[in-house]
Amino acid sequence: MKILFLNGPNLNLLGTREPEVYGRLTLKDIEAKVRDRAAKLGAEIDFRQSNLEGELVAWIQQSKGIYNVIVLNAAAYTHTSIALRDAISAVGVPTIEIHLSNVHAREEFRHKSLIAPVCKGQIAGFGAESYVLALEAAVTVNATSK
Ligand code: DQA
Repeated sequence: MKILFLNGPNLNLLGTREPEVYGRLTLKDIEAKVRDRAAKLGAEIDFRQSNLEGELVAWIQQSKGIYNVIVLNAAAYTHTSIALRDAISAVGVPTIEIHLSNVHAREEFRHKSLIAPVCKGQIAGFGAESYVLALEAAVTVNATSK
């Protein structure tokens, strides 16, 4: 079972970026939490971040046949990117949308997700735990899609 965690723009700044919204853990801290849980669940993970939309698109395209599930925090691209949405649809690897913050309780422009309709589901609002919950969902999604 291989799961690809993809993180979009500005998530490299976690730890210092608006900690009242996103918490004080860095992306490395979150990755360590996910790796710890993944080891217990017997899942293999890759964890990446990019500020570039095209790089995220390329990673989604390359995931076919390699990863069972993608866990995607597309960050601001969630609300703008038809390219990410099309990549998810084109590739067909089950994808779980995640957010640290509860996007639905924030500014109106964050309420709309262009990727939600092509994802299995969405986990938002649990801070770093959104990542761990997504990992658990990924293992379940994979188990039930066989
Ligand atoms: C985010 C929410 C997005 O609206 C925002 O642009 C981000 C982070 C989150 O994890 O809460 O960069 O995806």
